[in-house]
Amino acid sequence: MHSAPAPLDPRAFGNELVSAQAFADLPRIHATLARLRAHGKPLWVTPDNFRPFWAVGRHDQIVAASSDNDIFISSRRLNLMSRLQEAAAFRGAERYGKVLRTLVHMDEPDHKKYRAVTQYWFTAAAVKHRQAILEGLAREFARKFDGANGGVLDFAAEVATLFPLRVIMAILGIPLEDLPLMHRLTKTLSAPNDPDFSSDTARGDSMFDSIPEFTDYFLRVIADRRRHPRDDLATLIATGSVDAGPLGELEAVSYFITMAVAGHDTTAAAMAGGCAALAERPADWARLRRDPALLRHAADEMIRWVTPIKHFMRTVTRDCELGGQAIARGDGLALFYLSGNFDAAEFEAPAEFRIDRHPNRQIAFGFGPHVCLGMALSRLELTVWFSEMLRRVETLEPAGPARLLESNFLGGYKSVPIRYRLAERSGAAD
Ligand code: HEM
Repeated sequence: MHSAPAPLDPRAFGNELVSAQAFADLPRIHATLARLRAHGKPLWVTPDNFRPFWAVGRHDQIVAASSDNDIFISSRRLNLMSRLQEAAAFRGAERYGKVLRTLVHMDEPDHKKYRAVTQYWFTAAAVKHRQAILEGLAREFARKFDGANGGVLDFAAEVATLFPLRVIMAILGIPLEDLPLMHRLTKTLSAPNDPDFSSDTARGDSMFDSIPEFTDYFLRVIADRRRHPRDDLATLIATGSVDAGPLGELEAVSYFITMAVAGHDTTAAAMAGGCAALAERPADWARLRRDPALLRHAADEMIRWVTPIKHFMRTVTRDCELGGQAIARGDGLALFYLSGNFDAAEFEAPAEFRIDRHPNRQIAFGFGPHVCLGMALSRLELTVWFSEMLRRVETLEPAGPARLLESNFLGGYKSVPIRYRLAERSGAAD
């Protein structure tokens, strides 16, 4: 006999959904999200120290809300921040009236206009032109595997965190000597609750500490490219126009900040989680070595499996209905992509990692008008990197437990220890 699932307590369940620690513990968060999906409709939750919100866990409901940019807008509330963090964002807004105004914060009509500034640059065809840069960097990072025939390394720390950062710095046109600075700046913004990266987790509102430094840095880059244009993405943003004028200062700086943060930690998480999954599945590694063309499906499966961005939020502009649930004007919704990507109504055997999953309607890049601008770049990074690694590394296995970042928003891996054996003739000079 099946008994009905126990009703979910809005406060306790809400506390779990906003908990950074819960997201660092995969069985725990997946069990929580399965309960949310079993509830069927969006669920109103009232966690401590956060404004209440509707939690949306089903794939079809996330797609529906993301598709309608009129009713479900982005500008009011972007992601789940504690009241303390929201107050910090308010204080950080002194300089421009808002702490940040990126594409993800914008609604129409501005969103389309600002997106158009770089839209073409990020198409799959245009990104292909940068493939040689990515391949050069992949060869450089693959040298970390060289040395004795086999060894152990922490893939997250040695490769995954740095490769996408180097890629984004190269295509933006940021000099290599600024790598430590970029790394530190992006981590304080993206991992404010993790004791290893936050400048002060006890304070609870350190998230925006890096913004003034970021702003000054990118204002210098913008001024430089306006004087000395080059063939890089920084020049495109610095010299781009919206409504026949240059981008606003806040918007231009925010553009750079999104590129640096979204372009780095997200792909890093997919790479690290993808490598961890493959290390646990030696037969899959062997199959990919035999048939590297499968990487195009495997890359999307890594992205689904990890779902680096756990949620984004929307606010409704008028009374409406989602998944049979009435939602009142002004209410906030959190779209849990990680939940949608494990929804059995959309994916066959979602708890299985399948390198040949196809079709794969994963929603880790979001959906609709705000769908990730960097998705072609990110897919290319994953295929270029893993092609190189497959060529070099014959066998792979875990060399210890993987450790995840504590974050309810942009997740990732702090450590993925692997033991590997090199393929014959895999040297750096190949
Ligand atoms: C696996 C890697 C990535 C994941 C999982 C990811 C995820 C996402 C998601 C979920 C959104 C949608 C936001 C929303 O609906 O509100 C988004 C938007 C965006 N992403 Fe990514 N992203 C990734 C890589 C990148 C890269 C490499 C870049 C740039 C270099 C990038 C730049 C952006 C930008 C600019 C937007 C805003 C688009 C808009 O609002 O119109 N992302 N991303």
